[in-house]
Amino acid sequence: MTASVLRHARISGVGEHRPAQVLSNDDLAAKGLDTTDEWIRTRTGISSRRVAAATESVITMGADAAAKAMAEAGVDAAEIDLLVLATCSMRNAIPGGAARIASAVGARGIGAFDLNAACGGFSYALSVAADAVRCGTAQRVVVVGSEKLTDWIDWTDRGTCILFGDGAAAVLVEPSDSMGIGPVAWGSDGDGHALVGVPEGDWAIRMDGQAVFRWATTELTPVARRACELAGITTDELAAFVPHQANTRIVAAMARALRLPESVVIAHDIAETGNTSAASVPLALSRLIASGQVKSGDPALLLAFGAGLTYAGQVIRIP
Ligand code: UT7
Repeated sequence: MTASVLRHARISGVGEHRPAQVLSNDDLAAKGLDTTDEWIRTRTGISSRRVAAATESVITMGADAAAKAMAEAGVDAAEIDLLVLATCSMRNAIPGGAARIASAVGARGIGAFDLNAACGGFSYALSVAADAVRCGTAQRVVVVGSEKLTDWIDWTDRGTCILFGDGAAAVLVEPSDSMGIGPVAWGSDGDGHALVGVPEGDWAIRMDGQAVFRWATTELTPVARRACELAGITTDELAAFVPHQANTRIVAAMARALRLPESVVIAHDIAETGNTSAASVPLALSRLIASGQVKSGDPALLLAFGAGLTYAGQVIRIP
């Protein structure tokens, strides 16, 4: 047995997959849904969302994102030893998708497992990956958030179908000399399990939108603060805030409660993406980096939350 290694971990590459098909708010109204573009935009911040084609799945989208993250990090499949897939929208619970994504990117035989913490999933998976690298259990880990939520949407339920979309994003996690992924602040509230999810005997996601909204805007600010404390940083020192893209009004309320200064860039990916659950935070991170509004080494607070209820956040350094 080798001695345990305690070191830092960092994100060294980010990749994304956005399905080509765009479904606008006007498209939803044109299909007969009792809604308007104005209502959806003002209540949620969403103008359109991406819908996966029949040929696109949690696996294919996740594999594309993973391959791009590995390429960006300059890491070969032979150098990966663990892949964690955060998802809650696989068509079948068995088998999970992580091993298939590992095979698809050429990393056959590595450790691979799925992690379901719904919209909180990416920050949970990132924490597990960072700990594996810190402890020496793994050298290089691919963390994937991939969702085909449209498989689980009732297009006649205007309280949910306007919100969700499909997509995937992935990051490469590897050892680092300095703290590139801070300790996680995480938690759950199983008493709130019925607020959002697929109810027993149903097939589609149902939600008590107002209750989820209240929970997110009242309970999660201390979690965000705790993630900063654990990383030894104040909210004033953050360069960016990358919250789960659930609703722009939720994000704005969080930013107010955290008293984030104007200098903190707030990731905004929801407008053309909708809520993509476990893919939401890494997709928002990917867009933020591509926008050029943050630079390598900048501290960014990630905060993921959703069904379960689950929540998790950590401060990372922009790759
Ligand atoms: O990923 C984590 C899980 N999800 C979330 O974080 C979502 C959290 N919740 C929300 O984002 C918001 O609660 C929603 C966007 C889902 C709803 O917005 P709201 O401002 O809370 O609306 P509401 O549910 O209070 O509904 C207000 C009115 C209702 O009509 P009445 O009863 O006032 O006549 C609804 O029936 O708006 C109606 N409504 C709509 N109208 C047009 C609900 N959905 C729609 C719609 N288009 N799509």
